[in-house]
Amino acid sequence: MTTLVGLVLAVVLLLVPGWLLAADFKLKLPTGLQEDAAQIPDDNPITAEKVALGKKFFWDERLSASGTVSCAGCHRPDHGWSDPRTFSVDFAGQPTPRHAPTIVNRLFSDLQHWSGLRASLETQAGLDVNKTDEKVVANLGAVPAYRQEFRAVFGRELEPIGVAQAIAAYVRTILSGSSPYDRFQAGDRSAMSEAAQRGLRLFEDKAMCVRCHAGFNFTGEGYRNIGIGMNKPIPDLGRYEVTGDDADRGAFKTPTLRDVARRGPYMHDGSERTLADVVAYYNRGGVKNPWLSADMKPLELTVEEQSDLVEFMKALSGEIDPAVSRPPVLPK
Ligand code: HEC
Ligand code: HEC
Repeated sequence: MTTLVGLVLAVVLLLVPGWLLAADFKLKLPTGLQEDAAQIPDDNPITAEKVALGKKFFWDERLSASGTVSCAGCHRPDHGWSDPRTFSVDFAGQPTPRHAPTIVNRLFSDLQHWSGLRASLETQAGLDVNKTDEKVVANLGAVPAYRQEFRAVFGRELEPIGVAQAIAAYVRTILSGSSPYDRFQAGDRSAMSEAAQRGLRLFEDKAMCVRCHAGFNFTGEGYRNIGIGMNKPIPDLGRYEVTGDDADRGAFKTPTLRDVARRGPYMHDGSERTLADVVAYYNRGGVKNPWLSADMKPLELTVEEQSDLVEFMKALSGEIDPAVSRPPVLPK
């Protein structure tokens, strides 16, 4: 009897497709990141196979309608997952209206974009590169290996929602942690230089950076007006374009500062070239405008204090996981 039950069980297990069994995939977080802050939608659990497929889509120019642009072209793994160009060039050969932000630690936010326009990583991946769903299916569906892998992961034929879900699952594995700062916090006092330690104290106290760049991911996920671009003839109104709320004029998402030293230029318009430029900007108190955050004040930092802040931010560069950032082999 027991052998019969065992036999039946074995047969059932063999027949259940991989996508049902893979539900117990465990995401390994680097030191310093908080598991309870992860945002993973119930209808898109992370599995190893889905992440592997999403990684290929991320690198594959056939994802774009024109077949000329991939996610990795603008979010470069070797540049802190951002773009060294002030503005990227999109699939139509046009500059993007805003600077490409980093995509590290997106696991910890729901809303995406400088203005929070996209409700999730799934909608972001679905809408930002492809203008037509037919093109996705035509371009990617023409690759036999993709059709087969997609069926193995989702249990259905290749279609755009699953493509976006796979990409979102991969993006959730692009993490930054285990930095010198994290080792310092874990008790290794030699992990950060004296200058970086002074910078940390300034960050939390005199320079008031924590008012917005708060918590383990160095962002409170809030939208704030710090004055960037507000002196242009027609300023980008950022969050206001999404909410229509006057208080949101010129407000942009507070970005994570993890990996920040790897990814200049900075801000939604790429207007600050270096971290020293950014600190000098805050030291001036930003650009005055009617919606400037009350937390923006001239800081009166000395030259040494400014450089200490920069040293502190350099200590936020995380360990690089080659399994995530190495380009995949794309199927023919
Ligand atoms: C042509 C360059 C370009 C390509 C290609 C591109 N992006 Fe982006 N990405 C941007 C820009 C620019 C923004 C900022 C848009 C905004 O805020 O208005 C952005 C924003 C994002 C964000 C939001 C980050 C945040 O902190 O809010 C994510 C996530 C993202 N992209 C992932 C992807 C993925 C995944 C792909 C491929 C499906 C992709 N991007 C393709 C330029 C690009
Ligand atoms: C009032 C809230 C607020 C305070 C205070 C604040 N920041 Fe920011 N920070 C932001 C917002 C919002 C942005 C994005 C602004 C934009 O692009 O328009 C930003 C952007 C940045 C960037 C660019 C990151 C990138 O990926 O482009 C750096 C670096 C930075 N802040 C460091 C600091 C430091 C250092 C301090 C303290 C001296 C500080 N911030 C204080 C809200 C704040």
